[in-house]
Formats: sequence, C-alpha cells, structure tokens
Amino acid sequence: MSNDGVNAGRRRFLVAATSVVGAAGAVGAATPFVGSWFPSAKAKAAGAPVKVNVSKIEAGQQMVAEWRGQPVFIVRRTEEILGNLTKIHDRMADPESQASVQPTYVDPTVRSIKPELLVVVGLCTHLGCSPSFRPEVAPADLGADWVGGYFCPCHGSRYDLAGRVYKAQPAPLNLPVPPHSYETDDVIIIGVDQEKA
Ligand code: FES
Repeated sequence: MSNDGVNAGRRRFLVAATSVVGAAGAVGAATPFVGSWFPSAKAKAAGAPVKVNVSKIEAGQQMVAEWRGQPVFIVRRTEEILGNLTKIHDRMADPESQASVQPTYVDPTVRSIKPELLVVVGLCTHLGCSPSFRPEVAPADLGADWVGGYFCPCHGSRYDLAGRVYKAQPAPLNLPVPPHSYETDDVIIIGVDQEKA
C-alpha cells in the first residue's frame, strides 16, 4: 500500500472517530431528556415528529426534548426575560434571524410562536456542541452584563434566551428554530409546521 493509501485511510478513521465523539458529547452535555412521548426507534430514526408536554416547565426554566437525535431546548420565558431581549437587541449578530434558520410563522425577534415558550435546537452553530443553559443574571464567570442565555463550553459562543448569537462569537448564526406547532396549549409537536398541524 502506498503512503497515500495509508494517509487516506487514516484520514477516514479520524473523521469517523471525531463524528462519534461529537455526537456523544452533544448528548452528554445536555440535561436529561424528559417529558417526551417518543415514537418507535424506527420512526425516530426516520425523523418522526415528537410530541412534548410543556405544562411542567416552571417560569424561567428549561426542559430538553429529543428530535431527530438532536436536543431541543424548550424554555418558559418570563416577562423580565422577554424585556431583556429588547434591551440587548443591538448586541446580537443576527437580531431578527435574517440569515438564521427559523420558520416563517415564528416571530423574528423573540423567535417563537408564543412569546413565553422558546423552542430551539440545542446545538451550537459553530461546531455543534450543546450550549449550557445559563439563565442567571450577572454570574461571576459570565460578567455583569449577562442577562441570561446559553454559553457554549467548547469555544465560548454566547447566545441570548431567544437563541440569538451575540456579535463577534465563534458561532456565526442563531440556534435553529425547528418546525413545530401546538396540538393544545400544553402540547407541542416538534417536526410538524404550524400551518400543517
Ligand atoms: S462549538 Fe460552540 S463555540 Fe465552538
């Protein structure tokens, strides 16, 4: 075998190994998946919609669902959190999600169907780590101007509690908002668009 062949084989191995570690890291960093009614493993692999009961999420808190093997963060936002989104609007890289992934039926700024419930894919748009939920105001490690948001432990990208990325971060875009809809006031279907529900 030539050196080229060996190197090509090694490259393939490294790429595969990195993918596996990345996937495991994403799940391991997330809080436990709770409160979802999962379809069969076969249906999940095919990307089936997932129903999530959000009634138990307390004000200011988050739950994590799983859709297509990805964590989905669902946050019950308070009036204070929503007010802070307006205050920090100008510090965001893409404040109205012109370049970021979100369905057209989602408000461009608060990035949700109902203002109080945020639904975003919990994978950093830099290299795919799962950002940490940091809802505290002005914690010592994030600074006096931190009003709550997400902090990516891999390379330090910061997002607000609408999943919008701050300016000058490694991550280029906001956390994606997945297609979703409301079956009832308390039940969200992730993977089914609002118009088609
Ligand atoms: S993966 Fe999040 S900052 Fe790099």
